[in-house]
Amino acid sequence: MAYPYQIKSEEQYKEHYKRSVENPEAFWAEIAENFSWRKKWNKVLEWDFRKPKIEWFIGGKLNITENCLDRHLTENANKTAILWEPNNPHEKARSFTYKELFDEVCLFANVLRNNGIKKGDRVCIYLPMVPELSIAMLACARIGAIHSVVFGGFSAIALRDRIDDAGCSLVITSDGAYRGEKQISMKDTIDDALLGCESVKRVIVLSRTNKPISMIGGRDVWWDDEIKAAQNIIGDKCEAEEMDAEDMLFILYTSGSTGKPKGVVHTTGGYMVWTTYTFVNTFQYSPDQIHFCTADLGWITGHSYTLYGPLCAGATTIMFEGIPTYPDAGRFWDIVDKYKVDILYTAPTAIRSLMASGVSWFEGKDLSSLKVLGSVGEPINEEAWHWYDENVGKKKCPIVDTWWQTETAGIMISNLAGVTPSKPTFATLPLPGVQPVIVDDKGNELAGGDVSGNLCIKFPWPGIVRDNYGNTERYRQSYFSTYENLYFSGDGCLRDNDGNYRITGRVDDVLNVSGHRIGTAEVENAINMHTGVVESAVVAFPHAIKGEGIYAYVILKGMHIDEDHTKKDINETVSRIIGAIAKPDKIQFVKELPKTRSGKIMRRILRKIAEKNDDTGDTSTLLNPGIVDEIKQGARNM
Ligand code: WT7
Repeated sequence: MAYPYQIKSEEQYKEHYKRSVENPEAFWAEIAENFSWRKKWNKVLEWDFRKPKIEWFIGGKLNITENCLDRHLTENANKTAILWEPNNPHEKARSFTYKELFDEVCLFANVLRNNGIKKGDRVCIYLPMVPELSIAMLACARIGAIHSVVFGGFSAIALRDRIDDAGCSLVITSDGAYRGEKQISMKDTIDDALLGCESVKRVIVLSRTNKPISMIGGRDVWWDDEIKAAQNIIGDKCEAEEMDAEDMLFILYTSGSTGKPKGVVHTTGGYMVWTTYTFVNTFQYSPDQIHFCTADLGWITGHSYTLYGPLCAGATTIMFEGIPTYPDAGRFWDIVDKYKVDILYTAPTAIRSLMASGVSWFEGKDLSSLKVLGSVGEPINEEAWHWYDENVGKKKCPIVDTWWQTETAGIMISNLAGVTPSKPTFATLPLPGVQPVIVDDKGNELAGGDVSGNLCIKFPWPGIVRDNYGNTERYRQSYFSTYENLYFSGDGCLRDNDGNYRITGRVDDVLNVSGHRIGTAEVENAINMHTGVVESAVVAFPHAIKGEGIYAYVILKGMHIDEDHTKKDINETVSRIIGAIAKPDKIQFVKELPKTRSGKIMRRILRKIAEKNDDTGDTSTLLNPGIVDEIKQGARNM
């Protein structure tokens, strides 16, 4: 496959960028020509951030799986699409050519049809990182069902909220999952989540760990049995559903600043064009390369850069079931060596944790196949950047620091590997089609270099979030109401004199823990469920590995209780309500929380204390200024 839209030089980047701003419709029409459409669009773009309404490739008809699979079959049927590396390095790896993947997707799409699933139905996928996860997602897309993948680390309650919110009628899961040394009982979690759930009529269960599980009659069926049944009834062929460019492709839940996660909606045409375009350009992918994005498909990074972007580009993509430290901290380097990986795309938190394990894990591992390194999910600190550059890239691989979000579907600000310059800790320049602006708190645009403020985007790109599932008003409020006629990212940033952007972190009440977004309100709600808790406030504090850790200030009903035990109980409660990823790293019991006279918690002060910064500023206007010193004292004793 050739990529006529691949930018090859810095001059070309500038020229493409200029065109993308001056005439976005012509620019994106030209790129979209490189995909396979059943029917071309009538109009490239209609938009109004005030409404908000955004539509790309209007009237266009397509199916994304015909772009991920069918169109590669003429020339690349035998090319490897997916390389799957199991959690346990001694288990047999699996791989799928484009033809094999196509066949599997068609078969499973027929399973879904045979179970009554049709275009527009919502399907919840709760699976480990096994090839069947990719197959299930693509099978949904093939028949126009909307997938909602939930990361395997979420609890039954979190899962149920997501299933209810999307009104899913079918769930795809497995008996269990392997994660490092642990076995996780995914089916048990699904069973708990589905207690009292009315919408789900069918659960398809893949056998992965062979652990005994309950199978509820009339509801639960085995993956393998269903494949055989569908083959008998429908056969092997599966005609793809014709989708409108703006038909929903998937929902992916992410945290916002309120207690309830929001269902980010992406649609078909724009998502396909945007993820493929950004994949090919950012990583400078060339068709013979092996791409290894370490993200789980439960997150947007997995959706866009493990699955859809690479497959649309006809790439070979690695799916890794395990974790970077199992069986030891050399696992990534084993995989790079084994598959001769060209592109490695991972998160700063993984880099920092491997950095802490030392360089001995590189011994005897051949990393010379690596051409490009990528970073995603959180700001990468200078030390981790250089460690990555020196030890992994051996100072010969460009590092792309890619800023984007679940809502943007794909990479927004990043250098292009080896084409535009990198600058440690800077995401650098916007991709063509992305028009960032920095505004102050009042929404005034800050022009020029050496400025810092809130990061907004003033023009739509094809991958922009289209809705919050079932809650368009929240969609408007979250992204388009803070600053008039701008998409607000929720991030703070600065711009240097060369126009390079450096993202400094969230400015709203969202934490970024190990590259995962967690809302403070969500964690507080969970803590407050504990019977002993009166009130709580959650803030971030700098954490050497996770980037940000979770610091919870908690008021208990009675302070005489065994503190350590209560802390453990609170952690258990949060695990039950959200999942282990949201467990506070630190819990400090306090008598009161600093509040304004109107009763609002002063998080600014709590953040300072959590950061061990004694300069809490003027506290005289507080309702209860005396409490600040007491909390500071308590923090010092922790
Ligand atoms: C938030 C989005 C991007 C996909 C995975 C996370 C932070 C992301 C960077 C980066 C600094 C970054 C931002 C953003 N973030 N990439 N390269 N440098 N910060 O997606 O869960 O939607 O989180 O991650 O704060 O808003 P997400």
